[in-house]
Amino acid sequence: MNKTPVAVIVIPTYNEAGSIKKMIDHLFTNTFPKTKGWDCQVLVVDDTSPDGTYKVVQSLQKRYKKLFLSLSAKKAGIGGAYVRGFRYAMNELHADVVIEFDGDFQHPPKTIPVMLEGISEGYDYVLGSRKIKGGSNPKGWGFKRLFFSEIGGMVARFVLFFPTKNFFKITDPTTGLKASRVKGFVDTMDMDHLYSHSFGYKLEFLYKMTALGAKIKEVPLQFFVREAGESKIEPQTAKDIFRTVFLLRLNDPMTKKFIKFGTIGLFGFVINKVGLDVFATLLKNVIGSVGIRNALANAMAAEISIISNFTFNNLWTFKNEKLVWGAKLIKKFTTFNLSSVVSGIILPSLVIGAGTHVFGDQYRFLFLIIGVFFITVPLNWFIYNVVIWKKK
Ligand code: GDD
Ligand code: MN
Repeated sequence: MNKTPVAVIVIPTYNEAGSIKKMIDHLFTNTFPKTKGWDCQVLVVDDTSPDGTYKVVQSLQKRYKKLFLSLSAKKAGIGGAYVRGFRYAMNELHADVVIEFDGDFQHPPKTIPVMLEGISEGYDYVLGSRKIKGGSNPKGWGFKRLFFSEIGGMVARFVLFFPTKNFFKITDPTTGLKASRVKGFVDTMDMDHLYSHSFGYKLEFLYKMTALGAKIKEVPLQFFVREAGESKIEPQTAKDIFRTVFLLRLNDPMTKKFIKFGTIGLFGFVINKVGLDVFATLLKNVIGSVGIRNALANAMAAEISIISNFTFNNLWTFKNEKLVWGAKLIKKFTTFNLSSVVSGIILPSLVIGAGTHVFGDQYRFLFLIIGVFFITVPLNWFIYNVVIWKKK
């Protein structure tokens, strides 16, 4: 028979003496009896709070055998505290699931059984969301706090995930209430190199779990007002969160690929422009008609830039999916060539034609931009990834 899975509720605390006793009592007496099939334990991660939070915990340890304390002399920041907590939960307590939980009753304990149910259903990462049906922000939050929370959430969501499916799926990226599966996820997560040891770590763990392919479920979170004490969020917290999501996205393998793709595309455009001039000059005495001459010159230049795009993307952007010389490469190059003509010439030409027809010739450049950035670039990116250099 398998042993009962262990769920460790990790509570970081810094000056939470006003609520920690009530919280611990509540978890052990009211919440844990409602989590059938789970061995629930509590780990408080305290940084020697000046108000003596840890002393309250130490005295409660006599009553609760499954109450643990990780105490450090130095203030670690909420992220630093969670790294310590996750490690302790895995190594000392052999956790199967780790739950991130605030010590101030802003996260309702009654959501814990709901999250564990999600894990039992087979999800790897269950997130409390204020943004789905049944979730809510504190009634007491003024316009300003609400506004910053909304904007912060939207920016984080966009910067971290647009346009992947997680962008649509994760409605509350800055949420603090989460249950994570350990095996295959927390135990393989790199917690040594974090961009933030403050509140930004929330986004970092979120990003890492999605990168590991965690199956995600959102459950409603009713985020309450604090019962006692003060928030540790500082004015620089917003900056810390933006910095973290920006760095995560910048160093994302997909972003790096996209930057290479963009560089090669830009280079291709330069080849097209220079080639057009060169061929137009070379053909000057061969073809009399300006129109036919320029059209032919552009067709030749465009073909060279298509060949350049294919070659450099094959060698650099998609080097892990590189096509080697042979029948398959010729087939893929043919597809690439045809799709480049459609996405890079026919479609933007139609946009420019239709746009200037309706709005006037003065908008020619605007429609070129629209055609290139909203049609050619996304379409090429899609075709390259999904058709030409499809991952094995
Ligand atoms: N050990 C330790 N060290 N604990 C800390 C530290 C620290 O440096 N900083 C904060 N904490 C603890 C607090 O004592 C509290 O139990 C918990 O972390 C959450 O901190 P709050 O100060 O209550 O944060 P909040 O409620 O304003 O922040 C909300 O938004 C964050 C970002 O979106 C919460 O939902 C957080 O969970 C969320 O990460
Ligand atoms: Mn709080």
